[in-house]
Formats: sequence, structure tokens, C-alpha cells
Amino acid sequence: MKKVKILLAVLMVFTMTLGMAACGNTKAEETADTETAEAQNTSEEEGAAAEKEEEPASEETASEEAVEATEAGSEPAEEEPSSEDTPAHSDVLVAYFSATGTTKGVAERIAAVTGGDLYEILAAEPYTEEDLNYNDSNSRSTAEQNDKTVRPEIGSEDISLEGYTTIYLGFPIWWGEEPRILDTFVEKYSFEGITVIPFCTSGGSGIGRSGPNMEELAGSGTWLEGKRFSAGVSEEDLTSWIDGME
Ligand SMILES: Cc1cc2nc3c(=O)[nH]c(=O)nc-3n(C[C@H](O)[C@H](O)[C@H](O)COP(=O)(O)O)c2cc1C
Repeated sequence: MKKVKILLAVLMVFTMTLGMAACGNTKAEETADTETAEAQNTSEEEGAAAEKEEEPASEETASEEAVEATEAGSEPAEEEPSSEDTPAHSDVLVAYFSATGTTKGVAERIAAVTGGDLYEILAAEPYTEEDLNYNDSNSRSTAEQNDKTVRPEIGSEDISLEGYTTIYLGFPIWWGEEPRILDTFVEKYSFEGITVIPFCTSGGSGIGRSGPNMEELAGSGTWLEGKRFSAGVSEEDLTSWIDGME
């Protein structure tokens, strides 16, 4: 009987020890789990907080940099000059009428050497080959040249001459003088304060009285003597003509 009691006591002690050991493990696991969860929460929260802080942080950095730059005495970036400060265009305009492209080529070279703007005087009703037939005494161009009062309508958009101080005015010679559409042009605009320099192309005739004709019709501007050029005039020759007028 005594043996049985001792055996029972030993069994109880053993069972209790096992129970405690198991309990201890669970607690340790629980503690570990809790700590891991807390750690995760903490790192998630920190992550979220870091994300939240990122945007304002960059703004802060920008403004801090601005303050630092000001404190360091460096000037804030200069503002772009407004369009009012910069001229919208060159002060030279090369305006021209060209029925078959010859005068246009010379005008483009003058614009290249002067840095001027180009303006093409287009007829509202374009001239056809038939219109330009000078062998036909009834062709449109010949009829127009025979009547000094004719004013063919201009089809190109109006141009403001404000800001231009020099205008090179180009045209082909038609029956010894400027085509009537040039008369329309010079009567349409004011050349007050502008120096006008006529130039032309032709089959061989000189510029004749084209300049004085247009000056009279315009009634304003300082008109210089014009010049006739052949189709293939070089930029060098144009440059010496332009330089020679200064
Ligand atoms: C109706 C008409 C009349 C012309 N009259 C003359 C003239 O009197 N003298 C001359 O040398 N060339 C004359 N020409 C030739 C042009 O002046 C010459 O071909 C000019 O370079 C054409 O220029 P554009 O291509 O810019 O129109 C005449 C051409 C036309 C269409």
C-alpha cells in the first residue's frame, strides 16, 4: 500500500511538471506571437507614417532650399522677359508681289541677308497663264496696265506695319512699270516713319518710274531709289547693294 502511495505521488509530480512545462511553452509562444504582431503593426504604422510624410517632406525641402538660397544671398531665378520687352518681329520687312516666282526668289534672298520678315502680296484673284500673256493685248495684265485707275484686290491677310522701319518692296516689271496691285498695296497702308526701298525683276527693262509712281500714290514714307535685279542675283551682290545705301 505504501508502495502504491509513493507511486501515485511520483506520478502526480511528473504530471504536474509536464503540465507546467506545456503551459510555459504556450505562454512563451503567445508572448512571441504578440511581440511579432506588435512589431508588424509598428513597422506597418511607421511605413504608413513614412509614406504620409514623404510628400510634405519634399515640399518642405523645396521651401527650405528657397529659404537657404535667400539666406545665402543668391538671387531668385530671373523672370523671363515679357513679350512686351521683346520685339515681336524684325524691323525690316520684305514685301513683294510675284506672278511667276522670280521676284519671290530675290525677295527671299534679301530677307536672308537683312534678317527681315517676308510678306507676299497675293492677288485675291490669282493671275493665270492666260492673264499674264503679254502677247495678247486683251489679256488681264495688259488691260490692267493700260488703265492706271485699276486696283486689283489683295488676297493675302492684312499686315500691321507697326515696328517696321524699312520695307523692301519687290515686284516684276509689267509694261515698263509696277503692276497695278502694287498701287493697291501702297494706297492701302501708311508708310509714315518708314524707309521704302523698291526692287524689281524683269526680262531686261529697268525699274523706270515705278518708285516715283508708288511714292506719289502712297503719300507717306521716305522712298529711296529702287533697283532692278536679274533672277539669279547673288546674296553677295544684294549685300553690297544694301550696304551701299547705308
Ligand atoms: C504682263 C507682263 C508684262 C511684262 N512687261 C515687261 C517689260 O516691259 N519689260 C521686261 O523687261 N519684262 C517684262 N515682263 C517680264 C517680267 O518682268 C519678268 O518675267 C519678271 O521677272 C517676272 O517676275 P515674277 O516671276 O516675279 O512675276 C513682263 C511680264 C508680264 C507678265
